[in-house]
Amino acid sequence: MTDRPVIGIFGAGKVGTALARLLVASGYDVLIAGSPRQTALDLLVSVVAPGARVVTPDELVAGADVIIVAVPFGKAGTVPWEDFGGRIVVDAMNYWPPVDGHIAAIDADERSTSEINASRNPLARVVKSLNHVGYHEMEDDAMDAGSPLRRALAVVGDDADARAVIAQLIDDIGFDAVDGGPLANGRALEPGHPAFGRELSATELAALLAPAAHLAA
Ligand SMILES: NC(=O)c1ccc[n+]([C@@H]2O[C@H](COP(=O)([O-])OP(=O)(O)OC[C@H]3O[C@@H](n4cnc5c(N)ncnc54)[C@H](OP(=O)(O)O)[C@@H]3O)[C@@H](O)[C@H]2O)c1
Repeated sequence: MTDRPVIGIFGAGKVGTALARLLVASGYDVLIAGSPRQTALDLLVSVVAPGARVVTPDELVAGADVIIVAVPFGKAGTVPWEDFGGRIVVDAMNYWPPVDGHIAAIDADERSTSEINASRNPLARVVKSLNHVGYHEMEDDAMDAGSPLRRALAVVGDDADARAVIAQLIDDIGFDAVDGGPLANGRALEPGHPAFGRELSATELAALLAPAAHLAA
């Protein structure tokens, strides 16, 4: 992988296009694959995320070093997880019943939704990040490194090298990255949990993510 990984985004909706704009502005090469239902996606992306390239799912998987999944949680199974073995995959999704409906199996599952998604392909290097910031805040809250009020975003996952790649991406697009450790810690980033949607500094966010680790340190 080069210094700047190629980023492939599944989902050309609110999150996918906001991320595409930020990443293109930060110098990344961005591929984006939309819903099969979307028409005139080339035109849409040329207007809302100029510089990002519309590709097919196969082209995205072939060309991207990092894959961001930003589709509705209830449609997570429609992206090709079977092709994600060995790949860094950012799960930016949230289980959001107003959109996804109530899914009894998810309601009853104690795991983070990213652990559930990761189980779709145990060989994927799944990182949970970007899910706990509103799409409209992604650009509004981005700040240069070193800004005293810079907002922090978390990076959790079971693969430390994958977390480091995504931490660099987070920093490049304008946020302090907090390494939150294993994927199971991602519960704290989900709707109804303490870090979701809150503007936090790196110190505040780290304290919410792994209290046990802090006690042990
Ligand atoms: N909105 C936020 O502020 C926010 C912030 C952080 C995280 N999130 C999470 O990020 C995810 C996306 O949210 P959003 O607000 O961007 O939703 P959105 O505006 O509805 O965009 C999602 C897009 O993904 C498309 N899609 C569905 N299946 C696909 C597939 N297999 N390949 C490519 N595209 C596919 C959808 O098309 P169809 O309409 O055809 O399904 C839709 O165009 C959700 O899981 C959400 O919970 C949202």
